[in-house]
Amino acid sequence: MNKKLRGRALVPALTLAAFIAFALASCSGPKPEIEQRIDELLARMTLEEKIGQMNQLSYDAGAELADDIEAGRVGSLLNIVDPAAINALQRVAVEESRLGIPLVVGRDVIHGFRTIFPIPIGQAATFNPDLVQQGAAIAAREARSVGVHWTFAPMLDISRDQRWGRLAEGFGEDPVLGAAMGSAMVRGYQGESLAGPASIAACVKHFVAYGAAEGGRDYNSTNVPPHLMRNVYLVPFKAAIDAGAATLMTSFNENDGIPGTGNKALVRDMLRDEWGWDGMVVSDWASVTEMIAHGFAADAKEAAMRAANAGVDMEMVSGSYLQFLPALIEEGKVPQDYVDNSVRNILRLKFRLGLFENPYVDTDAPSPLYAPEHLEAARETARQSAVLLKNDGVLPLEGAKTVAVVGPMADAPHDQLGTWIFDGRKEGTITPLNALRDLSGITVLHEPGVSYSRDRSTAGIAKAVAAARRADVVVAFVGEEAILSGEAHSLADPGLKGAQKELVAALAGTGKPLVVVVMAGRPLTIGDELAAADAMLYCFHPGTMGGPAIADLLFGTVSPSGRLPMTFAREVGQIPLYYNHNNTGRPFTGSETMIDDIPLEAAQTSLGNTSYYLDAGAEPLFPFGFGLSYTTFEYSELSLSSGEMASGGSLDVTFTLTNTGRREATEVAQFYIRDVSGSISRPVKELKDFRRVTLPAGGSARVTFTLTAEQLAFYGLDGTFGAEPGDFLLWVGPDSSSGLEASFTLR
Ligand code: BGC
Repeated sequence: MNKKLRGRALVPALTLAAFIAFALASCSGPKPEIEQRIDELLARMTLEEKIGQMNQLSYDAGAELADDIEAGRVGSLLNIVDPAAINALQRVAVEESRLGIPLVVGRDVIHGFRTIFPIPIGQAATFNPDLVQQGAAIAAREARSVGVHWTFAPMLDISRDQRWGRLAEGFGEDPVLGAAMGSAMVRGYQGESLAGPASIAACVKHFVAYGAAEGGRDYNSTNVPPHLMRNVYLVPFKAAIDAGAATLMTSFNENDGIPGTGNKALVRDMLRDEWGWDGMVVSDWASVTEMIAHGFAADAKEAAMRAANAGVDMEMVSGSYLQFLPALIEEGKVPQDYVDNSVRNILRLKFRLGLFENPYVDTDAPSPLYAPEHLEAARETARQSAVLLKNDGVLPLEGAKTVAVVGPMADAPHDQLGTWIFDGRKEGTITPLNALRDLSGITVLHEPGVSYSRDRSTAGIAKAVAAARRADVVVAFVGEEAILSGEAHSLADPGLKGAQKELVAALAGTGKPLVVVVMAGRPLTIGDELAAADAMLYCFHPGTMGGPAIADLLFGTVSPSGRLPMTFAREVGQIPLYYNHNNTGRPFTGSETMIDDIPLEAAQTSLGNTSYYLDAGAEPLFPFGFGLSYTTFEYSELSLSSGEMASGGSLDVTFTLTNTGRREATEVAQFYIRDVSGSISRPVKELKDFRRVTLPAGGSARVTFTLTAEQLAFYGLDGTFGAEPGDFLLWVGPDSSSGLEASFTLR
């Protein structure tokens, strides 16, 4: 059947938020109190005061800042975290400026404030949104305690490229996982009410497609076409906005010739008019005036015009609004209305945060920084974020008495925190070395072998090998320093740097059981080390409590349960490599001739004509969703409530999950579908749901995923969002490349 002939079951394009906004605008009843207060305030503001609200400055202790605040030229500050300084400047805004409008204070609180949680890509590996929400709530509590009201997180940029340094800050390659994690973070930061004493406003960023940078080089151009934009890159944003995200940041990249900060079609037309969102849009750091370098504005005045017209409410640091908006309005190049609406959005944020009632931070309140329950939550998140990639039986290390602890990441308290830790402290970090030394009953022999991740010197390797020979087991901590990932920190070759490869090879040469623990900001190409190791535990930079968490996993206090949020390529040349790709007309079969098997003087067409690399095939090192534990799980007895789904209906997909091993552990059961044919080609697999299921040894459970027709919907050829009748495949299983398969038909 060609289902495309049968039309699309449309999902209403008018979202609930849009409906509410529409209803509010069209009904004649009283406006909500905040809107009334905004109206009253706006009516009293001069044009200069309005434009002042749209100006965000980075804190520097210079005296003029207070003058600017007093004159109403500043709406927000970022990068100020000293409570006394915040209160002093807030006092100027509230008590000395003409209208007493409080400042909103922003800060990059990306994966914890003082208590640092695993980097977001590691948090994604937990497949546990509740835990991620808890971490964000803790970060909010710590940040608000010093006077921060607003974080520039979560970063929702889908990334399919291991080279891109900022993937560390996001949730990986999958839109459904990204949507779940992003919404969880928003709920965590913002709490029940933004005005709560432990809440901060979230900022979803970077709008949009910033993670699709060509070649994985940060800030680079992107070329995401409209369907892919809607069906992949915008999915986490829509979900996080529906979860109540208070603010949004535009991106640095230009997509198809239009920089994010000047993209009216996406910001004003889609985000505002189509989605009906009433939050606040901030530019990225100087991304307004960077439109000059992009070649999208001739000068700062034109840049200000483009950003304001696109719908950017607040300009981060580059000052062009303050300087040029008065003239642009006068000249009719920016409508006065646009400015009024931007100011409304900014004031709405301040009212929602309760800043008019509670502008000051209580400097006498007990500090929650590093509270014991925060450290415990960070430890649990680090445990759940680690992914066991290989285990020949050496883990857990239950019988080991003497452990050689080797490698540059074993005792790197700053580096294990990862990127974006403005307010983290290496002094508060517990490294694996310290955690292992604290265990009773084992002797630790510590020899780094290589002193930091880029260190090319092989001079220390002999000592590490000597320690390995004296030990029962070797644990090598390798990976990346924090500085090798994050903003502007992309790599052309994301493999182990320095002499780390030599170190691992030398340790393997001792014949001692070798456990490799990787601590990195991205998936590294670690095929050689994987082959050399008896076991490999992959930890994205795990944060303050990484050491104890890793010790818990190595010694089997808990079983690993993290799963890969990104596909791991075998080699850099395979990138971009992601599981949810569209198919070629000639898919790889796995039985192709590889380069070493090509006979001499082969006939030209004898290799098979499928889509692969002669020297690397087409398969990844590990698929999305992969991860082992200390037990084994079996999937069986898959059944569907029906072989058909009605348009607008749903289907229950049930299976038995059995722990067939000898210890309790948690499996992340994953549910994928494939839309067999569509009005546009659909991915070969798409994650639709996942569930963490904990089972005792020998235990089993029936697990049900409910699939709705809305989950089958996508933006199709005619631009509408809907599900298309026809045949679908589905899988339940442990990762994106295996599992039990069934099919159904959407009527
Ligand atoms: C980054 C943003 C960040 C901002 C403020 C920019 O360079 O791209 O993600 O929030 O700086 O620090």
